[in-house]
Amino acid sequence: MDLYSDIVMDHFKNPRNVGAVEKPDGVGEVGNPTCGDMMTITIKVKDEHLSEIKFKTLGCGAAIATSSMMTELAQGKSIEEGMSLTRDMVAEALGGLPPEKMHCSNLAADGLHAAIKDYQEKLGK
Ligand code: FES
Repeated sequence: MDLYSDIVMDHFKNPRNVGAVEKPDGVGEVGNPTCGDMMTITIKVKDEHLSEIKFKTLGCGAAIATSSMMTELAQGKSIEEGMSLTRDMVAEALGGLPPEKMHCSNLAADGLHAAIKDYQEKLGK
């Protein structure tokens, strides 16, 4: 059996929204204590909705795939919906991850939450 689903492989090979948005409204930097991998998420917010999300990661294939999927799931969603996006939702949308790779999916959701918190802090909320 293949380790990764076709959806994971697709997002790993053709990751969506790689890079950094210009003049971000929020920046989230997170690290994975299990492996030391790092990720930076940048967001643009318009009318309390996530209008643009990009990611940069120094991480494994599963981290790239989960980040790519996370940007697609969160794009256009409200701030609240972005905050309630969980790593399980991301992993599920990818057709599942092997148990030993679930820790890799933390980065994507945590990075998004960190970027939203940064945005809210800048607003003084
Ligand atoms: Fe580090 Fe996957 S091994 S994020």
